[in-house]
Amino acid sequence: MPMQDLQNSFKRDGVAADLQTVITALLNVTKEISLAVRQGALAGVLGSAQVENVQGETQKKLDVIANDLLTAALRENSHVRALASEEEEHSVALFNSGKYIVAFDPLDGSSNIDINGQIGTIFTMYPALDNVASDSPAQFFQPGKNQLCAGYVLYGASTLLVLTNGGPTRCFTLDPHSNEWVLTNGQLQVPQNTEEFSINMANQRFWGDNFKRYIADLLLGETGVRGKRFNMRWNAAMVGDVHRVLTRGGIFMYPNDSRNPRQPAKLRLLYEANPMAMLIENAGGKACSEATNKIQRILEITPASLHQRVSVVLGSANEVDICNTYLFKRDQQAEPVLVENDEAY
Ligand code: F6P
Repeated sequence: MPMQDLQNSFKRDGVAADLQTVITALLNVTKEISLAVRQGALAGVLGSAQVENVQGETQKKLDVIANDLLTAALRENSHVRALASEEEEHSVALFNSGKYIVAFDPLDGSSNIDINGQIGTIFTMYPALDNVASDSPAQFFQPGKNQLCAGYVLYGASTLLVLTNGGPTRCFTLDPHSNEWVLTNGQLQVPQNTEEFSINMANQRFWGDNFKRYIADLLLGETGVRGKRFNMRWNAAMVGDVHRVLTRGGIFMYPNDSRNPRQPAKLRLLYEANPMAMLIENAGGKACSEATNKIQRILEITPASLHQRVSVVLGSANEVDICNTYLFKRDQQAEPVLVENDEAY
């Protein structure tokens, strides 16, 4: 029975009953967001809210609506110790007895809202730390490998839920008739090799030389050392790009760049890179980040601040390895170092 698909997956993955209530509460809100997205101009939800968020980005009405709905629903669940959102400067303390903390990007890819493009909600849940106060951001300073579940809801041509509870990465489709999540792929698998890359080429002149060389060789295609032609896709919404990678493979990159020396990376570790890294790894792919003199598995990085940003290279395992080789080999004459422990990050 489709209505039980989500519950069945919880059972198969051994998800604790109280955590199930948190995931379900969050997912129920995404159904409301999906409806608002589908109504668009008819519901008056398009356009700007005329305010800036903590990241200095102008909030869209839907950013605010999605954030308010998610926050209100989680505030009522006594299993939630604290929450963090892209749209909130500080984490929010909830129930002291709660066993879980929740972080989310209420609406990823906001610049796509008004053009009827792909947007989505990204979320992650961790165990709450007993030795840390509920109102301390340090609740969230845990490496991504501690995540209990990670997922996104993609408001695209269909509304899709992509979820891992530590086991396989599964895909559910929201049935518009029953308003239930129906399992449509029980185990997403990212192909090891790819001929498709995803990057904002407009930033090319701001990348480091090693990264420029990697992309240059992709562009040379069959006439260069790679010996095969690559195609390029860019959605300008991480949810859309990662979904394509999870569906047919590819490599998605948001490398460090020199546009703003105080902010070399763009994507946020806690509620963008980490949940996506868990989904990708549990589907057989790889997810890495470049730090000084090393490449790290994203899930090994311990955040030092709530809205910390990291460079991201994720997708088909063999292509991520090749990219990492470029990042280190040419200048340093050394093999890339994949560091398991991030103490020095
Ligand atoms: O939050 C970040 C985000 O919107 C991602 O979803 C997306 O991958 C990226 O920014 C788009 O960046 P750019 O503006 O460089 O295309």
